[in-house]
Amino acid sequence: MADKKARLTVDGLEGEIELPVYSGTEGPDVIDVRPLTGQGLFTYDPGFVSTAACESKLTYIDGEKGILLHGGYPIEQLAQHSDYLEVCYLLLNGELPTPEQKEKFNNTVTNHTMVHEQLSQFFKGFRRDAHPMAIMCGVVGALSAFYHDSLDINDAHHREVCAYRLIAKMPTLAAMCYKYSIGQPFMYPQNELSYAENFLRMMFGTPCGDYKVSPTLARAMDKIFILHADHEQNASTSTVRLAGSSGANPFACIAAGIAALWGPAHGGANEAVLVMLNEIGDEANIPEFIDRAKDPEDPFRLMGFGHRVYRNFDPRAKVMKKTCDEVLAELGIENDPLLKIAKRLEQIALEDDYFVQRKLYPNVDFYSGIILKAIGIPTNMFTVIFALSRTIGWISHWNEFHSSPNKIGRPRQLYTGPKLRDYPTK
Ligand code: SDX
Repeated sequence: MADKKARLTVDGLEGEIELPVYSGTEGPDVIDVRPLTGQGLFTYDPGFVSTAACESKLTYIDGEKGILLHGGYPIEQLAQHSDYLEVCYLLLNGELPTPEQKEKFNNTVTNHTMVHEQLSQFFKGFRRDAHPMAIMCGVVGALSAFYHDSLDINDAHHREVCAYRLIAKMPTLAAMCYKYSIGQPFMYPQNELSYAENFLRMMFGTPCGDYKVSPTLARAMDKIFILHADHEQNASTSTVRLAGSSGANPFACIAAGIAALWGPAHGGANEAVLVMLNEIGDEANIPEFIDRAKDPEDPFRLMGFGHRVYRNFDPRAKVMKKTCDEVLAELGIENDPLLKIAKRLEQIALEDDYFVQRKLYPNVDFYSGIILKAIGIPTNMFTVIFALSRTIGWISHWNEFHSSPNKIGRPRQLYTGPKLRDYPTK
């Protein structure tokens, strides 16, 4: 119910238009602009810079203060005290699980980690050097060809089964992408391992012998999963919601999210950061790249910097930077040359007026690539890790959308093309 009103006067229109204003539990009030259509008006907001596309209870970001909450819990506390599957439960159910609920949830996920044996045939159709995100778009979309038993989007139980299947199978499919690219056999999940341990073993283990997962790397991997879990209505999540609004099945919607995430302006940035750091190569070359990033004529941007919402530090980047130091110290590679370039780049950029005025701070992608590289993940798998982690956010938003009355998403436009005209007849 609107507790406030906005009043709009428009040149050429009689009187004023009254628009309801709603307040959330946190964040800016929103003006309900739906009555404008009746007045023959649309709002205009390319890139949705100031548009609230929906109501949601899952995640809240305060861009000015650098705050990120899942179910009201700060990301720093979840990264320190929780684990990824517990955060999955929180996003799907709105509350942290009791110990019994957590055990049941973990067991259900664990027992869904295998994929249909025929899915492995799909990989054989790809070139070995295919980008793993291209393969993920394909095989995740293909899951809808295997799971016809739970595709009724209006059935809450079917939606829950899809969520379990996707959370459970993404690590298996991600590891299969990597194994396929290096010509090694696929590894089956092991039910006695934790989510992150299972993933790392499927990535780096072989059938030729036991593979012991380092607890440090497993903990770092789980933390990376948590830090990428959800982030309000970002481009890929908005894509999943829009695809879901047409009634498309959840696997197709998640495949659409994977495609949207792949772009270097979004989830593809973590791979692009490593490419950029390698291109910089030496701290002495940093000024040249800073100048290029500032040059409006040069399309080059400092990958891992800037954010549509954060006008302060991305809280995830702070946790990621701390984890980076811990992991590299544990591995005895604290002098990683790329980390040194990254830290120097961050220091210079944060003192430079261009970045300070535009409030361009390091985002989640700036340090994640360095940790992933230290864990042994190849650069072209970085965005796959992001997609794996974000699956819970995507499916939670998709589920939230279908849990209440909804409409197909259908934005309008400002048309500036040719007026009506007749086809020239001879
Ligand atoms: C993610 O939305 C989410 O929540 C995303 C995400 C999630 O968890 O889902 O947080 C994950 O996508 C993080 C962002 C990863 N992308 C990158 O690191 C790529 C580099 N960053 C930029 O492409 C950019 O900062 C964006 C895309 C992230 C944000 O773009 P906006 O909000 O559209 O900002 P803008 O392009 O309008 O930039 C404002 C100004 C411009 O200069 P002026 O026109 O004012 O002169 O800042 C400049 C831009 O040119 N600018 C940069 C820059 N980012 C913005 N200049 C140099 N380097 C950069 N990185």
